[in-house]
Amino acid sequence: MKKTPIRGIDIAYQDIGTGPVVLCVHGFPLSHRLWLQTAERLSDRYRFLMPDLRGFGDSGVTEKATMSDYADDLAALLAAEDVAEPVVIMGLSMGGYVVFEFVRRHKSLARALILADTQAAPDSDEKARSRREGAAKILAEGNAAIVDAMLPNLFAPDAPKALVDEWRDIMLETNPRGTAAAMHAMADRADSMTTFEAINVPTLVVVGEQDAITPPDVARVMSSGIRDAELEIIPSIGHMSPVEAPDEYARIVGAFLDSLN
Ligand code: MLT
Repeated sequence: MKKTPIRGIDIAYQDIGTGPVVLCVHGFPLSHRLWLQTAERLSDRYRFLMPDLRGFGDSGVTEKATMSDYADDLAALLAAEDVAEPVVIMGLSMGGYVVFEFVRRHKSLARALILADTQAAPDSDEKARSRREGAAKILAEGNAAIVDAMLPNLFAPDAPKALVDEWRDIMLETNPRGTAAAMHAMADRADSMTTFEAINVPTLVVVGEQDAITPPDVARVMSSGIRDAELEIIPSIGHMSPVEAPDEYARIVGAFLDSLN
């Protein structure tokens, strides 16, 4: 694991492989570990930069965070690594919200997008309110308050128990201050449907057939709204595509990356 000072905190990240850069943005409340299996399968021809977003994993924590903070941290990480060429940016769920913000703020740095198990619509007022209440609860009681409520929706119903348990542990390890800050960031995020028009780079939308958080219908809104976007639906899995179906996920992502060369 590498660490570098970025915008007032240390950002931790894994850097695996050689070739064109794929910048990987994990979901909530996860870590770079989401991407390790994809990176292992494709690292002979691509370089995977996999940060822990501020407040997650081994990165520093701030009391507040916004989608702009996460996106600016990623741009600063590319600068810190002397990456001069535009990169492929891949985000899952909350990571996808960050990808849209990255496009709004650092468009020239994006060569292509991969939007995994995510959505473009903002929170409804009710959802934003419940996130803010959830953030207060987490600060008072710890992550279990939200993790056990989320878990049944994260994986397909027949996902192996060992896999679900492994990710429960990772989610419980996340610093509650980082989790709470991210809940505010998600509640405050912009509507990304209005960003579709600005996207003029190749885009892959990928989703688990049984994703209960951002289902295939929500993925279709992105793939039909973004110019020439491709849609891939992975059968029989839920919201955690890269770890529920690591071979299939890497195959789809690898084919998309190869098509860019
Ligand atoms: C995620 O997986 O990153 C979150 O479930 C996204 C969300 O809560 O909107």
